[in-house]
Amino acid sequence: MRKYNIAVVGATGMVGRTFLKVLEERKLPIDNFYVFASARSAGSTLMFQGKEYTVLELNENSFKDYQVDIALFSAGGGTSLKYAPIAAESGCIVIDNSSAWRMDKEVPLVVPEVNASDILKHKGIIANPNCSTIQAVVALNPLHRAYSIKRIIYTTFQAVSGAGMGGYNDLSEGLKGNPPQKFPHQIAGNCIPHIDVFLENGYTKEEIKMVEETRKILNDQSLKITATTVRVPVFDSHSESINVEFNKSYDLEDLIETLKSGEGLIVQDDTAKEIYPLALNAAGQDEVFVGRIRRDESVDNGVNLWVVADNIRKGAATNAVQIAQWIIANDVIQ
Ligand code: A2P
Repeated sequence: MRKYNIAVVGATGMVGRTFLKVLEERKLPIDNFYVFASARSAGSTLMFQGKEYTVLELNENSFKDYQVDIALFSAGGGTSLKYAPIAAESGCIVIDNSSAWRMDKEVPLVVPEVNASDILKHKGIIANPNCSTIQAVVALNPLHRAYSIKRIIYTTFQAVSGAGMGGYNDLSEGLKGNPPQKFPHQIAGNCIPHIDVFLENGYTKEEIKMVEETRKILNDQSLKITATTVRVPVFDSHSESINVEFNKSYDLEDLIETLKSGEGLIVQDDTAKEIYPLALNAAGQDEVFVGRIRRDESVDNGVNLWVVADNIRKGAATNAVQIAQWIIANDVIQ
């Protein structure tokens, strides 16, 4: 079986370290493995498959020099903007976790459970969607296919780990009474309705990412979508309230069955036993969990869902590694 040279860019970061974990768990056929970061952490070491790897400083020649076949990037938008085209130029396929390339028409935006075959349209860069969007579309795709979604209202409750190591530190230090370094306000004991920067229309960039990325992944520009994204004092896993209105009428039992057979989706919904998806339970898991499934009685064909997933795993690292697995399984690299 063919083996691949795989690199992780941003390997010392929150998502980067999880790339290593998930690559190890899923036993990808790796020939040579490389870990890159900035000059700050070059020379430090990371463990992978029981071996110590020295962190290398990323530069223009990294991909060519090491003949990298697949590179998983999570080192911020600036690094992706600069280095992803350089990597692609040298014949490497980049799976990029930043928002830099997601809305580029030439770049597929992929959640394997939804639109894996879009990978075949790649020109060297494949974008991994925003964490909040990934878990939402895993739940929404089977419903869109069955009942044709007209409108979506997202409200998110996002973990601090979505802001990387800095976000994690703000919550743990905030709990000890120390001031925030990463967020604009104290997150401990608080909810901050502000993720990423504010845009002219009053929305945050995070909210607009959810709107635009959902349309691109579900391949339906007609979807009406609005979003409010909120940072909450939770370490791991994003929770989302999703209100959906369909064009077609539906039967609630059928809708629940549709969700139960959804790929990568687990229904946890037994309110009599106080069973519903919880951030703490989703942490460390690769699936998306859905519960509190109930008819929205204020409209004709509406439903409310509570959707939870580990934002660093399914919302980032797992999704990217699944894309790499699909590339390998389908011999995308000649
Ligand atoms: P470093 O450890 O050298 O700073 P997080 O989002 O969790 O803070 O992680 C960001 C990741 O991106 C880290 O691995 C960080 O490396 C890496 N990174 C940041 N800037 C660069 C850069 N210019 N080149 C390569 N890696 C970078």
